[in-house]
Amino acid sequence: MTNNTTLLSQQEIFDLFKEKYSGYSPDFELWIKAGQVEKLNRLVREKKAVILKHNYMSWDLQCDEVLGIRGDSLELSRKATETDADLILFLGVKFMAETAKVLNPTKTVLIPSLKAGCSLASSITGADVRKLKAMFPGVPVVAYVNTDADTKSEVDVCCASGNARKVVEWALKEWKTNTVIFLPDKFLAQNVARDMGADIFFPDTSASAESNIRHCEEQRDVAISLHKGSPNILFIAWEGKCEVHEKFTPKDAIELRKDFPGVYIMAHPECPPEVIAEVDFAGSTGEMIKNIEKQDVQDRPVAFFTECAMVEMLAAKHKNVLQVCSIQKRCPHMAQNNLETVIEALENMQYEITVPEGLRAKAELPIRRMIAIK
Ligand code: 13P
Ligand code: SF4
Repeated sequence: MTNNTTLLSQQEIFDLFKEKYSGYSPDFELWIKAGQVEKLNRLVREKKAVILKHNYMSWDLQCDEVLGIRGDSLELSRKATETDADLILFLGVKFMAETAKVLNPTKTVLIPSLKAGCSLASSITGADVRKLKAMFPGVPVVAYVNTDADTKSEVDVCCASGNARKVVEWALKEWKTNTVIFLPDKFLAQNVARDMGADIFFPDTSASAESNIRHCEEQRDVAISLHKGSPNILFIAWEGKCEVHEKFTPKDAIELRKDFPGVYIMAHPECPPEVIAEVDFAGSTGEMIKNIEKQDVQDRPVAFFTECAMVEMLAAKHKNVLQVCSIQKRCPHMAQNNLETVIEALENMQYEITVPEGLRAKAELPIRRMIAIK
């Protein structure tokens, strides 16, 4: 449904839900949800809001019956620059809503829960980036978009899972160097580095302020000696991890192939590299969803190694998508979004995302660079 279509009644939403999701929920639950969706859509229309929904929302938010635009982090960042609505309700986590606010300083950006953080974003701060820049002066800094505005304000360019390699290639070319600082996701860094045939180094940033200069020099020397004489690209990385994707193991893929011969496995590149080595395709949430339409994938059982709400929605739509519960994982931060908290967000105009102007202005350039890199 788009913001311009006639609003559906509870009965019409219920009928559509029954057609699509009756295997999922009993009728009485579908009826209640249909009522909530009707109420939510009315509020969206009344408040002239736009809803941006990440692919990890539960099916009752992700579904087409809820007004809004669905996508991965990169797609939603782009959509945030295109909307003319003055009110953006972001169904995702804080760093995503913050990105929308950085791009739209005059608009009101809401998120249904301030508890919707991210283990990657909280693994690093702006002060950490300053330390890394002191260790490796002149080296371009690429930050995964899963970071707070404080971190983004210190970096040169952001990237998303869907364009990480392209962004690194762009930064290396612009800075005329073969070294890049890539943070904070350890596994994404390892996966992109492996893809590019690059070396990787994790500096020790634990030194106290007093020994900082000596420590910075030591770390620089270690990186140089590791890389000496090598024409290879060098990634200087960070130890952040996604608390959901780090749980997948290569054994999950091996077991799955035994039980479902011919299974096509897709994984998010936040999974460890040993896992990515065992799967058929790695990509952003949006890329994985598009991939399911490919001819050679359609005739096979399909499994996803990613956040499990995305799989729930896809399994309802595509009969060949497996719901393998033992390896399914739910992000507790994404799970803060549900029909109740989303309705309350619009009713009470909560929770508003604010970014101090000094930080916002500095964080905007790296985000705009990411969006411009195609
Ligand atoms: P995408 O950018 O692939 O949508 O992923 C965001 C995220 O948080 C993955 O855990
Ligand atoms: Fe962060 Fe992982 Fe949750 Fe994505 S799934 S929001 S990376 S904790």
